[in-house]
Amino acid sequence: MPSIVVFASGSGSNFQAVIDAARSGRIPASVAGLITDREGIRAIERAREAGIPVRVIPPGEQPGRQNFAGALLDALNTWKPDLVVLAGYLRRIPPSVIRRYPGRIINIHPALLPDFGGEGFYGMRVHRAVLEAGRETSGCTVHRVTENYDEGPILEQVTVPVHPCDTPETLAARVLEKEHELLPRVIRNLLEGERSSASGNSAAPSSQSQS
Ligand code: GRF
Repeated sequence: MPSIVVFASGSGSNFQAVIDAARSGRIPASVAGLITDREGIRAIERAREAGIPVRVIPPGEQPGRQNFAGALLDALNTWKPDLVVLAGYLRRIPPSVIRRYPGRIINIHPALLPDFGGEGFYGMRVHRAVLEAGRETSGCTVHRVTENYDEGPILEQVTVPVHPCDTPETLAARVLEKEHELLPRVIRNLLEGERSSASGNSAAPSSQSQS
C-alpha cells in the first residue's frame, strides 16, 4: 500500500482529514509519519492519538551538525513515502528535498492561487487580504510544490463565496471546511492515477474547479 508523510505546523485539522480518509479507505494509502517544525502543537497530539510516528525538526542546525535539509531527508528516508503532503506547514521546503521527491510533494493553500500566495501569505493574513481586496469569492488550492513558493502546478481548486459580513475568521472557517474535502480527494486522485498508469491505463489526476 502506498504511504504518505504529512508536514504540519499547527492545529493539523487537514492532517486529521487525511488520517480519517486513510482509515476509512477513501484514500488508498497509509499515513507513515508526521514531520513538524515545533513541539506543543495539536497536530502532534492528533498523530499520537492515531499511533502515527512524529519527527520534530526545528529549522537551523541539528544535533550532530546536520543541516535542516539533511534532517528532513533522513526522516523521509526512514518512511520512504510515495507522496509528501504539506498541510499547514509554515517553513520553506529546502530545494534539495524538493529535488529528492520530484512532483511528489503537494501543498494545500487557503486561497485561489495564483492570487494571495507567496511569501507572507499564510494563516489569517490570507483571508484578511482577500477581504481587503473586496473579492466576492475565495477558496482553496492544492498544488504541486516546486522551488518557487506557492507557484507549482495547480491540481485542483474549490471556490467559496465571500459574504459582506465576513471577518477573516468566518471566511477561514468556510474555506477550511472545503479544504478537508479537497485534500483527501486530490490525494486519492493522484494515487489512483498512478495505480492505473502503472497498470497501463492512462487516467490523469483531475484539475477541475468546483464550488
Ligand atoms: C490551512 O488553512 C491550510 O490551507 C494552510 O494552513 C492551514 C492549516 O490548518 N496551509 P490546519 O493546521 O490543517 O488546521
